[in-house]
Amino acid sequence: MWQVFCQDPAQTHALGVALGSSAPGETVVALTGDLGAGKTCFAQGVGEGLGVVEAIVSPTFVLVAEYEGHQPLLHADAYRLRPGEVEGIGLEETLEGWPGLALVEWAELVGEALPLEHLAVTIEIIDDARRFHITSTGPRSAAALAKWRAAHGG
Ligand SMILES: Nc1ncnc2c1ncn2[C@@H]1O[C@H](COP(=O)(O)OP(=O)(O)O)[C@@H](O)[C@H]1O
Ligand SMILES: [Mg+2]
Repeated sequence: MWQVFCQDPAQTHALGVALGSSAPGETVVALTGDLGAGKTCFAQGVGEGLGVVEAIVSPTFVLVAEYEGHQPLLHADAYRLRPGEVEGIGLEETLEGWPGLALVEWAELVGEALPLEHLAVTIEIIDDARRFHITSTGPRSAAALAKWRAAHGG
C-alpha cells in the first residue's frame, strides 16, 4: 500500500503525470472516489504524462474514451452503466487486450470485467486535500506501482 497526500489539484495532477510517464504497457487502473474527489483531475495528469495532446474530459456520458499518446489511453467511466451494460459494451474484452494504460472510474461498478491484475487507486477527500490509497493486486501491477513511485520521487 502506497499513500500519497495531495494538498491541491496541482499535486493530484502531478501524481497522474508520474503514472502516465512511467506506466508499463497493459496497465489497468481502477479509480474509486466520490464525485468531486479528483478522478478527472488525476486522469488529466495521466494524459499529460502519456503525451496526450487532446483534452481529456470527464467520460461520464461517453462511457469509454480513447486517446493517442506514447501509449494509447483508455478512459472509462462506469458511473452511468446499468447492470448488463458492461457486457453490452464489451468492457472486459477491451480491458483484457488494451495495450497501453486503461483508467476505469467507478471501477467497483464493473464487477468481473475488471482484470484481476490491476492498480487500485482510491481517493479520500479531506477538505481541500486528497489522500490517495494505492495498492497492487499482483506482480505486474506491483512493478507498475514501483515505477510510478520512483517517477513521483518516492
Ligand atoms: N487536492 C485536490 N486534488 C484534486 N482536486 C481537488 C483538490 N482540492 C480541491 N479539488 C477540486 O475538486 C474537484 C475535483 O473534480 P474532478 O476531478 O472533476 O472530480 P471527479 O472526476 O472525481 O468527480 C475540482 O473542482 C478540484 O479543483
Ligand atoms: Mg470525473
